[in-house]
Amino acid sequence: MTAEVGRAPGTVGPGARHERDGWRHRHVLDVDDFTLDEIELVMATAAEMKEILARPIKKVPTLRGTSVTIIFWEASTRTRVSFEVAAKNLSADVVNIAAQASSVAKGESLVDTIRTIEALGADMIVMRHAISGAPYLAAEHFGGHILNGGDGWHAHPTQALLDLYTIRKEIGAIDGLRIAMVGDLAQGRTVRSLAYLLSKFQDVKMYFVAPPLLKMKEDILEHLRERKVQFFEETALDKVLPEVDVVYQTRIQKERFGDRIEDYEKCRGIYILTLDSLARMKTKSIVMHPLPRLEEIAMEVDQDPRAGYFRQAQNGLYVRMALLTMVL
Ligand code: NCD
Repeated sequence: MTAEVGRAPGTVGPGARHERDGWRHRHVLDVDDFTLDEIELVMATAAEMKEILARPIKKVPTLRGTSVTIIFWEASTRTRVSFEVAAKNLSADVVNIAAQASSVAKGESLVDTIRTIEALGADMIVMRHAISGAPYLAAEHFGGHILNGGDGWHAHPTQALLDLYTIRKEIGAIDGLRIAMVGDLAQGRTVRSLAYLLSKFQDVKMYFVAPPLLKMKEDILEHLRERKVQFFEETALDKVLPEVDVVYQTRIQKERFGDRIEDYEKCRGIYILTLDSLARMKTKSIVMHPLPRLEEIAMEVDQDPRAGYFRQAQNGLYVRMALLTMVL
């Protein structure tokens, strides 16, 4: 996958030095170099974490004595909070930095911020940044572990893993899956990482539903061609709905249009899921969304059992607890 700054994605640090119990990832920057076995290990560990959280006492000592710093240069609710709750459930000490209230606001560079966090004893940094590739740069200057909580339009690996966990739980096998990804496929990082992750499975068919301005970028399409994954680019949503097991709806990412306000206005509200859309979908199917939702899913859809987005958000906690445990 392409990124704007830092090391070429896919070369995620000196992983070999951290090889332990079959886990070779020092950082989680993207999903591209995860093997199927590693993905299975994350899924199985997440299921164990879910069991831990069902106990009367939810806290376990796994990460006692370790320090996790969370710093987000972009807004977030689910990713930031679920990482914080995950780290606390595992007994880590958590430092939460609001980037806009830190020296970042005075113009401090990413590298200086990362070096300072390291000097103050962090073992792990969970970060989100508006610039694609920023976590790769951070990983070059940090002795601990970097977890990417979303970098620009580029990638959102922990979201892709929780999406996979959700599909598994709700639909079953990933092999043979039919999925529609809808909305802002050019600037939405979640669909890019999810397409990459799903390309590792057999016989997955992807339908990319987007207006021409927001088409899935060529680097992902090229990767899918190389992996011989069948994909279809569509502009009409209704046509695709009866075909798929998952409709993965996304927000049109206004903040990434910059001063192209007219382009944003052309695209906003272009695909809205309503009860009529659900009527066209299979009875055994789900609607997913990384959230936040704006107008692209009508509130009436929430009442339908196929509305899976809040269950999906909850699964993020299990998957992030699993990743924190595995990386540290
Ligand atoms: C998404 C993100 O930040 O990429 N949200 C999330 O992490 N759950 C999607 C979005 O912002 O629209």
